[in-house]
Amino acid sequence: MTRQATRILVTSALPYANGYIHLGHLAGAYLPADMYVRYQRLKGRDVLFLCGSDEHGVAITVSAEQEKTTPTAIIDRYHPDNEEAFRRFGMSFDTYSRTSRPYHHATAREFFAAFHRAGILREKEERQLYCPKDSMFLADRYVEGTCPVCKYDKARGDQCEQCGSWLNQVDVIDPRCKLCGATPEVRLTSHWYFPLGRYQARLQEYIAERDRRDGWRETVKRYCDSWFREGLQDRAVTRDLSWGVPVPVEGYGHKVIYVWFDAVLGYITAGREWARDRGTPEAWKAYWQDDATKYVAFIGKDNVVFHCIVFPAMLMAWNDHQADQYVLPENVPANEFLNLEGAKFSKSRGWGIDLRDFLRFFPADYVRFALASTLPETKDSDFSLKDFQSRINNELADIVGNFVNRTLAFTARSFDGVVPDRGPLNARDREMLLLLQQAPTRIGEMYESYHFRDALTETVAVARAANKYFNDSEPWKTVRSDRPACATTIAISLQTVRSLSILFRPVLPSIASGMARQIGDTEEAVAWDTAGDQPLPAGRALPTPEILVSKIEDQAIEKMMSELSLTSPSAAPAPMPEGLISIDDFKKIALRIATVVSAEAVPKSEKLLRLIVSIGGEERQVLAGIAKHYSPEQLVGKQVVVVANLQPAKLMGQESRGMLLAANADDGTLKIITVEGPIASGAVVR
Ligand code: MF3
Ligand code: ZN
Repeated sequence: MTRQATRILVTSALPYANGYIHLGHLAGAYLPADMYVRYQRLKGRDVLFLCGSDEHGVAITVSAEQEKTTPTAIIDRYHPDNEEAFRRFGMSFDTYSRTSRPYHHATAREFFAAFHRAGILREKEERQLYCPKDSMFLADRYVEGTCPVCKYDKARGDQCEQCGSWLNQVDVIDPRCKLCGATPEVRLTSHWYFPLGRYQARLQEYIAERDRRDGWRETVKRYCDSWFREGLQDRAVTRDLSWGVPVPVEGYGHKVIYVWFDAVLGYITAGREWARDRGTPEAWKAYWQDDATKYVAFIGKDNVVFHCIVFPAMLMAWNDHQADQYVLPENVPANEFLNLEGAKFSKSRGWGIDLRDFLRFFPADYVRFALASTLPETKDSDFSLKDFQSRINNELADIVGNFVNRTLAFTARSFDGVVPDRGPLNARDREMLLLLQQAPTRIGEMYESYHFRDALTETVAVARAANKYFNDSEPWKTVRSDRPACATTIAISLQTVRSLSILFRPVLPSIASGMARQIGDTEEAVAWDTAGDQPLPAGRALPTPEILVSKIEDQAIEKMMSELSLTSPSAAPAPMPEGLISIDDFKKIALRIATVVSAEAVPKSEKLLRLIVSIGGEERQVLAGIAKHYSPEQLVGKQVVVVANLQPAKLMGQESRGMLLAANADDGTLKIITVEGPIASGAVVR
């Protein structure tokens, strides 16, 4: 299911340099990529790991306008800070580039000009939104409005954050100018279009083939399928903006290349820069232009269309007409979103935790550990500070740290800090050794197949088994009653520390190297496959033990929460509405008891469930935005309260006749309103 290769190219989505990296970003495209890279390097594979800042597009110019400064000032502020935060977090990038560099402009222009010369791009006059007040065409995020697909009311002109749809701005419902709020008008302007539709069949074949070879995620394939079902359209790849890469076509120099069309090429620039900076200007080609290289692109789900469809189509277009041939992604293991305490990370609502803030309070490895345990690999997941604290205290400290500690303390106390000789093995010893022997392959397969959360769970399970082994062997008794048996227990426990110091490396680089240091191992000796069956040499004198993990006190969490002014966005009760209504007003609302007859997901919607409810013998279809909180099975048979005389509405192309009542709990989850005991459906609620 996965294709193994000795040379691997890995990229992480280039974050926009208009804000700080937060935990949501890390759980999407960064921590999993870094775990993968560290694992592959331990396997002895030749890995190039590239990233950098995405510095063009309206994301940057809007931030500049909001902060009353220039785009350059914005990127020059955030780029170095993000680079530094990533470094402290332990991201092992070979290069962290920037798309504003002339070197990247050259790459983007080279591709654009080649497409233009080959006649791939088409010039078209198209309708675009124009703001008469600001006298400009509103590119991409300058437009805000309602998503035509999921009805999210803060969709941007080019993309809906909520459902991930890639939009044509003229399709956005009730568009507003992001700058002044005015309703834009539609005007004609001329742009270059990339004929994505022409590549559809090849793209479908490409994804099917890579999926067979390397096992793509179901979520990613589903996103792609929905684009294919709709049919790929020509897309404008130029914009009426002054910030970006100028279009390298006569008469078009005042327009720029669409940010996504230049950003994905930033990966290639980063490779070229890496090669140039180490004095081997051709070295990038071994990664980017050699069929034997496996290319894995890590992203968040909102980037799927650009990495699974647009970027591969661009590379196909290049490869069709040029002698040098680029590799296409072998896999795009996109993650879903991470929420914070049940609510979406949101820059505009100030809800989130920036990495650099977090690192002021806790070590990077703690964050890595907690995030890795809750990576949103198959569905959105949640990060809460309570979970963070209990993961660190109950797993990292109580299981991992504790095992390492007690082993080293015992060695220091009872064997003068010297690795003892292993004696004859009993059944329990053999079982522990067998577990160690199998661990690298078993856990390795999880890394190879992009199951990073499972990889961590299994690694913790080794430490848990080790604690049990230590307990069951009772060395504190055998130290007096059966010294050779005690020596064997400790020798095997020390070997287990060595294994853990390797197996934990992808997740906990600094704690793992602390473990290695404590058993006197050097960094060079570390290789994934040696985690299996390598006893420590008997007679080795070990350094004085140190504490590697300490527990997190409640006060530490409270301190961070108050300093970062984090209070749950949904914790405060909603204010009471003003104005009183009469009982007759209230009676206008037909509240009825309904029984849920069936429930199912609405295709392409993450929020909606389609329910059939019976209201006193009448069956109705009701769409409810509760998919994130209830599975369809949980609802069937439930008695709920519906507003039965609400005007019918269309959501996602389906009719909804009635509304389900629900309320938000403190943690942000939605709870439906049900009745206390069985009651006839259709009963009036009053
Ligand atoms: N800046 C984009 C985002 O944050 C990601 C760009 S990935 C790229 O969503 F490679 F295409 F640059
Ligand atoms: Zn949407």
